[in-house]
Amino acid sequence: MSFTVIEECTPRLNRSELAVPGSNPRFLEKAAGSDADVVFLDLEDSVAPDDKEQARKNVIEALNTFDYGSKTVSIRINGLDTHYMYRDIVDVLEQAPDKLDLIMVPKVGTAADVYAVDTLISQVEAATGAKKRIGIEMIIETALGMMNINEIAGASSRNESLHFGVADYAASTKARITTIGGPHPDYHVLTDPDAEGNRDVHWGDMWHYAISRMVVAARANGLRAIDGPFGDFSDPDGFRAHTLRARVLGCEGKWAIHPSQVDLANDLFSPSDDDVAQAKRILEAMETAQKEGQGAVALDGKLIDIASIKQAQVLVKKAEEIGGR
Ligand code: GLV
Ligand code: MG
Repeated sequence: MSFTVIEECTPRLNRSELAVPGSNPRFLEKAAGSDADVVFLDLEDSVAPDDKEQARKNVIEALNTFDYGSKTVSIRINGLDTHYMYRDIVDVLEQAPDKLDLIMVPKVGTAADVYAVDTLISQVEAATGAKKRIGIEMIIETALGMMNINEIAGASSRNESLHFGVADYAASTKARITTIGGPHPDYHVLTDPDAEGNRDVHWGDMWHYAISRMVVAARANGLRAIDGPFGDFSDPDGFRAHTLRARVLGCEGKWAIHPSQVDLANDLFSPSDDDVAQAKRILEAMETAQKEGQGAVALDGKLIDIASIKQAQVLVKKAEEIGGR
């Protein structure tokens, strides 16, 4: 282990994160009854420029009216390049005191962006005597943000999570794709021809690098890594396949841009009973091994060692968090 100890952010369940347009009061109310772990009330890209002021008012009203229960509640503010952003923070924190848990910063490009947001939040918190300390979520969705991701992830003690915003990222990097998330047929390899000259096409995952990069930056700074939107909400199989890839790379949650994606995400990011039972067997086997002075043993014909303890503990801890919800 390095001498540098990674401090973990405030622990929260973040299997599903439901996006709710601030311009739609009915959706803001419905979200209060959702099973999502986190809801983010959106003031940014799901709201047209002419609706920005009204959406902010709707969100303040919703926060003061509806009971979001044990869910974590966030707002996605407008970008730092707009004149909406300061009021998004100041008005919501002042007029709906202690209702928010998190603020989501879109299109974050540099550590200074996070610093600026932290400054504003800190000033409002101090002036209003807020009881809740607001955490920060950041969407990595530009080439600049991806380039500066390490500094961004470590820029504030409020930081809790990095999110991969695939749609804006594709636009920013000028990727030749118009769908939101999922694979693209152009990103494939051809096998060598067989004896008859036939070749197979194997689709690859064009988002592999970006998501892996985000996971590393998040985990190295004690943050959650969350995969962003999958736009085709009428394709649950595509959502599932995309989510499994993000999960296996280390993401612990995914956005739901439609309520139908919430249960899928909750389910996919919850360890199964079999996984938990197996993790407990590993912990027991390693406890016995350690009592006998061994660092590694075989379980079901496979090697397990001290690293296996940590892997198993992650799973058991997650199951406990879900049980406690
Ligand atoms: C999310 O904001 C995205 O751009 O994908
Ligand atoms: Mg975006």
